[in-house]
Amino acid sequence: MTSNLFTPITLRGTTIPNRIWMAPMCQYSADDTGPATGAPNDWHLQHYGSRAAGGPGLILVEATAIAPEGRISPMDLGIWNDTQVEAHRRITAFMRGQGVVPGIQIAHAGRKAATDGLGRSRGTLSADDGGWDVVGPSPIAFDGDHAVPHELTVAEIQGVVTAFAEAAKRALAAGYEVVEVHGAHGYLVHEFLSPVANHRDDAYGGDFERRARLPLEIADAVRAAVGEQVPVLFRLSATDWIEPEGWTADQTVRLAALLREHGVDLVDVSTGGNLPDAVIPSGPGYQVPFAERIRRETGMPTAAVGIITEVQQAEKIIADGGADAVLLGRELLRNPYWPRQAAHELGEEHPLPRQYRRAERKPA
Ligand code: FNR
Repeated sequence: MTSNLFTPITLRGTTIPNRIWMAPMCQYSADDTGPATGAPNDWHLQHYGSRAAGGPGLILVEATAIAPEGRISPMDLGIWNDTQVEAHRRITAFMRGQGVVPGIQIAHAGRKAATDGLGRSRGTLSADDGGWDVVGPSPIAFDGDHAVPHELTVAEIQGVVTAFAEAAKRALAAGYEVVEVHGAHGYLVHEFLSPVANHRDDAYGGDFERRARLPLEIADAVRAAVGEQVPVLFRLSATDWIEPEGWTADQTVRLAALLREHGVDLVDVSTGGNLPDAVIPSGPGYQVPFAERIRRETGMPTAAVGIITEVQQAEKIIADGGADAVLLGRELLRNPYWPRQAAHELGEEHPLPRQYRRAERKPA
C-alpha cells in the first residue's frame, strides 16, 4: 500500500516524488556588501544540502529578492544578477543529485524591506545602518518602527512586474525547476491585496479586482517567462486575521480561482503578516482549513503549512483532502531527516544517501 505522503505529484512537466516539502525560510546569511551581495554561500549549501539529504520531495529556497530594494534585510538572498545565478547553481545541482526538486521563492518585501533580519533592532534600518528607502502601494507604514513607504507609481509597478519575470527566468538559469511567487506575510504583493495597506484609487487599488491586479500581472509575467512546462506556485496569506476590514478568506478563494486562470499551478496557503497586532490562533495545523477550502471551492491544488510536525498528522491532511502537499518549516530545521523517518514509519522505501547506507538500521 502506498501512503499519501509518498505518492508523487506532477505539476506541468515536473514530477515531485513525495508530498513532504520544505517551506521557504530566510537564513539572513548572504554577504551584504561587495560583488557576492545576495549570493548563496557555504552556509546555504550546507543548509539546503542537509535538508536535501533528508529526502523531501521539493525544497523551496527562502524568499529571494527580485531587486536589491526588495530584500527583507541586507543579508537576504537575491536573484537579480548573474553572480547570484552562478552561486545558486551549486545548490540546485546538489539538490537534484539527492532526488529533490529544487524550487525557489521569489520575493519583494515592499514596506517591510530593509530590516535587521537577525532581530537586533526593530523596524526599518536607517541609511547609516545599511537601510534604504522602502516602497509600497500607499504611504502607510507597517507600524511605528517602520518607515512610511514611497508610493509606487504605475511605471514603477510595471518595473516590479518585469523584475519578477526576470527573476523567474534567472531562477531557471540557476537550475530551479519550480518557482514560487511570495504573495504573503505583509510583503509587497500582499500589501497590494490588502485594503489595510493599499489605499490607492487608481488601477491598482480600490475594489477587489483592482487590488488583485498586481498579483495577476505578476502571475502572467512569470508564466510567460518560464514557459508552459515549469510549475508556478503562489504563496498567499489567506487572511489578515482582521475581518472584514483586512484581506479575507473569501477574497483569497476568489483570487485563487483567478490565479488558476492566470497560469498558477498551486497555492501555498499561509496567513497573517500584514498587521503588527493581529491575533493569530496558532496551533497544530491551524492554517490547513484555509488550504482545504481553497482546494474544495476552486479546484486549485494547495499546499498546507504551519505547525505540521507529526507523520500521521501530515498523512491525514493529504488523505482527507486538506491539501495536495504539506510544507514543513521549523520541524525540518530541528530534524532534516524527518521525511526519511516518515517513510520508515509509513512502511515506504526511502533509503538514506548511499554514503550513509550502513546506518540505515540501528544495530539490534
Ligand atoms: C519563515 N517563513 C517564511 N515564509 C516565507 O514565505 N518566506 C520566507 O523566506 C520565510 N522565512 C522564514 C524563516 C524562518 C526562520 C522561519 C521559522 C519561518 C515562514 C515559513 O515558511 C512557515 O510558513 C512557518 O514557519 C510555519 O511553518 P512551521 O515552521 O510551523 O512548519
